[in-house]
Amino acid sequence: MASTLLRVLFLLAFTISTTGASSSETDCNPIKNTSCPAEPALGTEHTWLFNSTLDDKLWDMETGKIEYTDEGADFAIRTENASTLLVSNFYIFFGIMEAHVKMAKGAGIISSVILQSDDLDEIDWEWVGYNTSGVQSDFFGKGNTTTSDRGGYHAVSNADTEWHNYTSYWDKDRLEWWIDGDLVRTVNYSEPLTVYGKNYPQTPSRVKISNWPVGIKGQSLGNLEWGGGYVNWTDVPFIMSVSKVRVQDFHSGKEYTYNGTSGSYESINVISGNSTAKKEINKTPPETTAEKWDDLGEGAHIGVYVGAAVAGAALVGAFGWWCVRQRRQGRLQRALDDDAHGSQLTNMEDYKAQWNQTQWGRKSYQPVA
Ligand SMILES: *[C@@H]1O[C@H](CO)[C@@H](O)[C@H](O)[C@H]1NC(C)=O
Ligand SMILES: *[C@@H]1O[C@H](CO)[C@@H](O)[C@H](O)[C@H]1NC(C)=O
Ligand SMILES: *[C@@H]1O[C@H](CO)[C@@H](O)[C@H](O)[C@H]1NC(C)=O
Ligand SMILES: *[C@@H]1O[C@H](CO)[C@@H](O)[C@H](O)[C@H]1NC(C)=O
Ligand SMILES: *[C@@H]1O[C@H](CO)[C@@H](O)[C@H](O)[C@H]1NC(C)=O
Ligand SMILES: *[C@@H]1O[C@H](CO)[C@@H](O)[C@H](O)[C@H]1NC(C)=O
Ligand SMILES: *[C@@H]1O[C@H](CO)[C@@H](O)[C@H](O)[C@H]1NC(C)=O
Ligand SMILES: *[C@@H]1O[C@H](CO)[C@@H](O)[C@H](O)[C@H]1NC(C)=O
Ligand SMILES: *[C@@H]1O[C@H](CO)[C@@H](O)[C@H](O)[C@H]1NC(C)=O
Ligand SMILES: *[C@@H]1O[C@H](CO)[C@@H](O)[C@H](O)[C@H]1NC(C)=O
Repeated sequence: MASTLLRVLFLLAFTISTTGASSSETDCNPIKNTSCPAEPALGTEHTWLFNSTLDDKLWDMETGKIEYTDEGADFAIRTENASTLLVSNFYIFFGIMEAHVKMAKGAGIISSVILQSDDLDEIDWEWVGYNTSGVQSDFFGKGNTTTSDRGGYHAVSNADTEWHNYTSYWDKDRLEWWIDGDLVRTVNYSEPLTVYGKNYPQTPSRVKISNWPVGIKGQSLGNLEWGGGYVNWTDVPFIMSVSKVRVQDFHSGKEYTYNGTSGSYESINVISGNSTAKKEINKTPPETTAEKWDDLGEGAHIGVYVGAAVAGAALVGAFGWWCVRQRRQGRLQRALDDDAHGSQLTNMEDYKAQWNQTQWGRKSYQPVA
């Protein structure tokens, strides 16, 4: 489960400070802190093809990097303890997430595509790397990991070599998991498994896509068995691939705020307006030549005038494009660097406490020798 993912990433960041992992559990939790900033909405529907560079205004690579291919993006683990985590910076407040995925194969390796809110509601697809014939569905409410009895187990053929369509549907009444157009699981808002709504995911959530190792030293026996034992690091690389992701927000506002700390869907305010994400998506091409020009600043303008006088108008466009690209790369690099140093240790005891909980009771696991 992804709650485990966050703990693993945290531990990795803590014990080997070079991974650059930052746990989203350190983001502002709106049911613990009433001053958290508003959460930017998606406010629309969009399909992202993962075979070309994702817009870094909408997606953050929090750990590792993705490798683009003709078919999609590879989330590769190429070295010991490496992991990848891509996070949308937009939120959906009920909606649909459709991911086309090939899981990573290998004992101890977990591929995951989840929705997660800042108060740790969560809706999961997870593939355990030793079993390429299945996928697990799961959900959490408010980070409650007291029991591990919510997982669903679903057969999929050749999940590592064939594309399949994994879709989660989520509204205030029910949660559905669909594989290749077949409904494989429904959870209602009010049933024993959700503690009659209390553990039902119901707050604005981001998309998180990750390939990560659970089979490492220091993990609980339950987690190790869930993942199929220790990772055999001589078998790198472990590659998860994503060809496209469609995300639909069932609200069409600008952002989401929490009214009070109940964490119930009734307490979520939808601030009206066009979302930043929607504006960014509808901006085609991403930046007009005029905007790029404005972005360059006075010094660069003069430089370009001089250049243009010599080389003509074609050069203007090329130089502008280059500058913007350099600036973008710089921003992304800075973000990654900040992240590498930004692991917050403030809630360490919380994590350690949770960390020690095992994941017993899973139906599908491998004994660890
Ligand atoms: C609450 O969130 C605000 C805004 O992110 C932050 O400045 C403040 O330090 C947080 N307070 C606590 C107690 O974490
Ligand atoms: C990405 O995939 C789409 C759909 O399969 C295709 O039309 C497009 O040409 C691809 N783009 C690249 C850069 O490979
Ligand atoms: C893989 O998962 C599927 C679906 O849950 C299950 O039917 C199958 O027994 C599992 N295989 C192994 C080797 O655990
Ligand atoms: C956590 O979930 C369990 C059932 O899985 C439930 O019995 C318990 O009351 C929940 N705890 C909180 C604080 O909601
Ligand atoms: C993926 O599955 C969902 C749910 O069945 C369906 O709505 C969607 O059209 C499917 N996508 C494709 C590309 O077939
Ligand atoms: C969920 O609700 C539907 C009706 O809306 C009902 O048919 C179904 O049995 C319920 N499922 C569970 C697990 O309670
Ligand atoms: C990988 O992580 C494990 C568990 O924290 C640690 O024991 C091991 O030394 C790490 N390996 C490398 C190469 O950093
Ligand atoms: C790890 O994989 C290599 C090559 O696939 C194999 O030779 C070796 O026996 C494996 N190690 C363990 C501990 O299974
Ligand atoms: C917050 O919720 C209370 C009821 O719990 C309601 O009276 C109040 O109007 C709400 N405030 C906003 C800004 O929605
Ligand atoms: C949102 O954008 C549309 C189209 O660009 C515009 O017509 C509308 O006025 C905008 N709405 C708000 C609330 O800004």
